[in-house]
Amino acid sequence: MKLILLGPPGAGKGTQAVRIAARLGIAHISTGDMLRAEIRNDTPLGRMAKAILDKGELVSDDVIIGMVKNRIAMSDCARGFLFDGFPRTVAQAEALETITQIDHVINIEVQLNRLIDRISSRRMCPDCGGTYHVSQYPDGVCPCGGKLYQRDDDREETVKNRLTVYEQKTAPLIAFYQKQGNLFTVNGDASIDQVELEISEKLGA
Ligand code: AP5
Ligand code: MG
Repeated sequence: MKLILLGPPGAGKGTQAVRIAARLGIAHISTGDMLRAEIRNDTPLGRMAKAILDKGELVSDDVIIGMVKNRIAMSDCARGFLFDGFPRTVAQAEALETITQIDHVINIEVQLNRLIDRISSRRMCPDCGGTYHVSQYPDGVCPCGGKLYQRDDDREETVKNRLTVYEQKTAPLIAFYQKQGNLFTVNGDASIDQVELEISEKLGA
């Protein structure tokens, strides 16, 4: 199965992607995680991308499409994959159509005030990739032993710009996929388990 998870920053795309990909036995492809790995490894792409992520802007369509093409050619994508954070512009969605066919687009809807709260309280584990609310492990240590950190682009000013960029460049994808008839929307204000259940039921998984 080939899926797209659509939704604003903080909607819970990454959280649900891990669960749904594991449930279906498909690859989880997060373009944000891929870019952050390039930044951590200090590659030329990472050095170019860092300034863009820090401002909350989008990396160019050409770079992202090239990255995704290479990624879906890997063997773990043979059974299918779930995109988290891609496509993010109509140009990316149109390019994707020339590469592969998507079965379902899952749109996670969340109230704006919750998005800001979730992002500012989010902590990440560099070792296992876990994502948590700050209250879950107030000592800053992941159950795997990793030292939890806050993403550089989770600062207030950057978050505001990410939300604006989402409205301007990514939200139009909802109408794009609605027109194709393969999009369904889930209530992302519900609990993490409840959102997973709604997605699974709608996928028939
Ligand atoms: P990316 O990494 O994709 O970030 P994003 O879209 O801004 O979304 P987030 O990762 O912030 O949120 P999420 O929806 O994954 O929420 P999460 O599950 O963590 O992109 C980062 C940057 O990379 C972009 O700004 C851009 O510069 C660049 N980029 C990436 N892809 C690109 C592309 N295709 N083109 C161009 N540039 C690109 O949840 C958030 C928090 O809420 C967590 O703490 C979680 O525990 C909690 N939570 C989740 N669900 C619930 C729930 N139901 N109830 C309560 N809490 C919840
Ligand atoms: Mg994410």
